[in-house]
Amino acid sequence: MREDMCCPVLLAARATVQLGVVVLMAAVLLAVGGASEAQTPPSSMVIGLGQPLSTADIERYAITVFPDGSNLPPGRGSVEQGARLYAMHCASCHGAQGIEGPAARLVGTDGFIGWSDPLRPLRVRKYPLQVLSVGAMWPYATTLFDYVRRGMPLHAPKSLTDDEVYAVTAHLLHLNGLVPSHAVMDRKSLPLVVMPGRARTVSAWPLEP
Ligand code: HEC
Repeated sequence: MREDMCCPVLLAARATVQLGVVVLMAAVLLAVGGASEAQTPPSSMVIGLGQPLSTADIERYAITVFPDGSNLPPGRGSVEQGARLYAMHCASCHGAQGIEGPAARLVGTDGFIGWSDPLRPLRVRKYPLQVLSVGAMWPYATTLFDYVRRGMPLHAPKSLTDDEVYAVTAHLLHLNGLVPSHAVMDRKSLPLVVMPGRARTVSAWPLEP
């Protein structure tokens, strides 16, 4: 058969087969859909695992705080209160100044190379895993509140009250040079703190219209 004759024939055959497959799949889907509706197990066969969540249960998990501060809880905490709490609950892992580790570095508003911190290269050498920090990289102060409340201290997450989380957040922001020593953080003041990380990151969901 010549080439220009063969191809239209093959194409037509292939199209017919493809159409057949689509029709078959639709039929199977319809059959399965119908079957699952008909086959709801009788209540005697339901295993009964789990339990309904109460509103209080759900509230404990619906704690996401957004960059603009929405969903921040009531409460407040000062830098001073936060310093005491930090020494008690955080310093053992993050270091007294928030840079020593062994856990993640929390303090330092510069990026990898900080011109305003001439000793940074030495500190980075001393604590090689501590290159990035909350002060350098995190774009929103509200995320600090969210993270600490849901995840820290590592061995006892959600053990701090909202007031305590506000206070520790205030202390960390102060250590990063972002709020003064008399600052008090609450749902109004926290979203107003401008983080250096904001200018160093690009948001996939910009707040600006
Ligand atoms: C038992 C050790 C431990 C204690 C105590 C602890 N942390 Fe952490 N923290 C960690 C570890 C480990 C990480 C890194 C977790 C990860 O990356 O998954 C971390 C991460 C963090 C981060 C994120 C840092 C980043 O840039 O990724 C913050 C913020 C933080 N901790 C704050 C706190 C605060 C505030 C407290 C006290 C209330 C605290 N931590 C107590 C071990 C601890």
